[in-house]
Amino acid sequence: MIQLSNVTKSYDDQVVLRDISFTIEKGELAFITGPSGAGKTTLLRLIYRAERPDKGHIFVAGWDVEKLKQRTIPFLRRNLGIVFQDFRLLPNKTVFDNIALALRIHGMHPQEIREHVMEVLDDVGLRDKAHNYPPHLSGGEQQRIVLARAIVSKPSVLLADEPTGNLDPENTRTVMKLFKEINARGTTVLIATHHRDLFLGTGRRVIHLKDTRIEKEDTG
Ligand SMILES: Nc1ncnc2c1ncn2[C@@H]1O[C@H](COP(=O)(O)OP(=O)(O)O)[C@@H](O)[C@H]1O
Ligand SMILES: [Mg+2]
Repeated sequence: MIQLSNVTKSYDDQVVLRDISFTIEKGELAFITGPSGAGKTTLLRLIYRAERPDKGHIFVAGWDVEKLKQRTIPFLRRNLGIVFQDFRLLPNKTVFDNIALALRIHGMHPQEIREHVMEVLDDVGLRDKAHNYPPHLSGGEQQRIVLARAIVSKPSVLLADEPTGNLDPENTRTVMKLFKEINARGTTVLIATHHRDLFLGTGRRVIHLKDTRIEKEDTG
């Protein structure tokens, strides 16, 4: 579902990722870890084509990401849900509108949008917050809204960058449980985190980045 082959990426003269190859199979939930600055965020940005590699190939959900034309990038993005650490919710729009936004852009019928949005709000347990504004929600609730927004268009791949970075242990458990549920329904999930607690004991695959390379792969 996600395949990198011999990917190298540098900024100016600094090589950040060197000769990275791995495959995440359809239906997997896997982690990328490594110290701060190891290139985790860059790796995810390469996958959703916010960055271009210097060398190598990236395939996502059947697309050769490098070969996409500017006008076909939206087709890739529609199949990718992305969870950012800093939430990026629109503060002056309701929870409902934040989640509905992408579906409106896709031209979905309002009644169908309503059904989809309320369904994902149910999934994350926040149906009663539909008409609240993000700044009035707790950090844990905001992250669950971000998750709802990421899955509302039923992506085949979900990417998450430090999704629990700002959360306390209880909210971290809740959010991780949601990732597992989403994965159990068939979505391929790739989570970047420097928090070992997130993957230890999960039995899931963990890719360790260190000094620009894959140091090792093991299970959490
Ligand atoms: N846009 C950018 N321009 C220049 N350097 C960058 C840019 N983005 C990231 N870097 C550098 O690339 C390295 C990896 O960063 P990043 O992917 O954010 O690591 P991580 O997410 O593992 O903390 C760091 O040294 C960072 O300073
Ligand atoms: Mg990062």
